[in-house]
Amino acid sequence: MSEGAIGIFDSGLGGLTAVKELVKVLPHEDIIYFGDTARVPYGNRSKKTIIRYAEQDACFLLSKGVKMIIAACGTVSSVAVDLKDELPVPFTGVVVPTAQAAVKATKNGRIGVIGTSATVNSGSYKNEILRADRGIKVFQQDCPLFVSLVENSFISADDEIVKLVVRRYLEGLKNEGIDTLILGCTHFPIISQAISDYLGDGVTLIDSGRETALYAAGLLEKNKLLSMDEGKGSCRYYVSDTVEDFKRTAEIFLGKSVGNEVSHINLEQAVIH
Ligand code: DGL
Repeated sequence: MSEGAIGIFDSGLGGLTAVKELVKVLPHEDIIYFGDTARVPYGNRSKKTIIRYAEQDACFLLSKGVKMIIAACGTVSSVAVDLKDELPVPFTGVVVPTAQAAVKATKNGRIGVIGTSATVNSGSYKNEILRADRGIKVFQQDCPLFVSLVENSFISADDEIVKLVVRRYLEGLKNEGIDTLILGCTHFPIISQAISDYLGDGVTLIDSGRETALYAAGLLEKNKLLSMDEGKGSCRYYVSDTVEDFKRTAEIFLGKSVGNEVSHINLEQAVIH
């Protein structure tokens, strides 16, 4: 039994895909979300910078007394691989749970992976898939513009710009005959309808937010940290840039108002002690 909240962070809005799923899987848990909206995107930055940002994000959540941390960010999960060892609480990223789900889902052994440039260059999902099954063929594509589309509220499947960018990035993977696609950046499920419209019903999309929420629930249980509270958990959001833009897109995406639960913070000074 534990009183603390679950801490989740991402560079911006993407981690809300994990929040949305976590609320379904663990309705009694309190959640504290941090979106580093002042410094998004992370995916085209250096390894050193991504690690520093990830440490500061985690440090902020620790200062809120969280009992577990989820890096709901494909980029951080792929690049800041040692973060887990620096933290005093259980931690998970998105790569392991998502890759495992994709291996289970594929029938023809051809899996596509899309993510930020840092994620794709790290080969994180590919390595994890091949660790599970060396016979699988993995096709990767970085899609950095998807992050900007989402952060700027271009998320409708009917939007011509969204459709155009989806086609430009995914044409190659479609031609490779993949039957499973890992949405390896947590921003991408927000435009999953447009992705699925383009690829068709024959391709299963693996949502890193969903898979990570399920994995995190298992991790809490294993560490005996599940809340024994029967009531509905609360969600509190923190962002490093203005709250207004975050609120607007978060509400569209979560399907409910995040109202007064969003606050601005400055974490430039944060360091893990
Ligand atoms: N949502 C993040 C990810 O999963 C980060 C996108 C970015 O900041 O570039 O990769």
